[in-house]
Amino acid sequence: MRNIILTGFMGSGKTSVGKLLASRAGHRFVDIDALIVERENRTINDIFTQEGEAYFRKVETELLEKALMGNNLVVSTGGGAVISERNRELMKGAGIVVNLTASAEDILERLSGENERPLLREGKGLEKIRQMLNERERYYADADIRIDTTGKNVEDVVREILAIIERGA
Ligand code: S3P
Repeated sequence: MRNIILTGFMGSGKTSVGKLLASRAGHRFVDIDALIVERENRTINDIFTQEGEAYFRKVETELLEKALMGNNLVVSTGGGAVISERNRELMKGAGIVVNLTASAEDILERLSGENERPLLREGKGLEKIRQMLNERERYYADADIRIDTTGKNVEDVVREILAIIERGA
């Protein structure tokens, strides 16, 4: 099976879906955010605060490109990785791009009580999430498959993705 690349907003379930999907597909799981933290040896919050978002995006593209040279992977990307056209092209060229969607309400609930998302540090309200979802919609839509995760558990989502891929998406 080809590489599977997961995109989607923060809290859409890329990491948990990605891990289970990788084990079901017999693929290796790669999390780009985790690679960035490992390479930089500091948290994403610290990278944003100390270097700014542009620097983070540069490292993100570099590590995405490197990771996508591999095979038999499930790759979880950061929520903003799709904004860059270059990243979207890299992803499309490397495998099947699967976008996970969730309602703004669900995202807010899933992200409550955590502080590791610098872009939502100021305000984690529904309005802020809705606005970012709107701004990014056209980039998320640029995927081979879109799966609505609202009201579904990780197992359901993984089964749905595999069924579509096995049918030959
Ligand atoms: C970001 C999403 C985060 C992380 C960074 C920026 C974004 O990844 O890359 O905080 O721009 O949406 P997750 O989607 O894994 O939370």
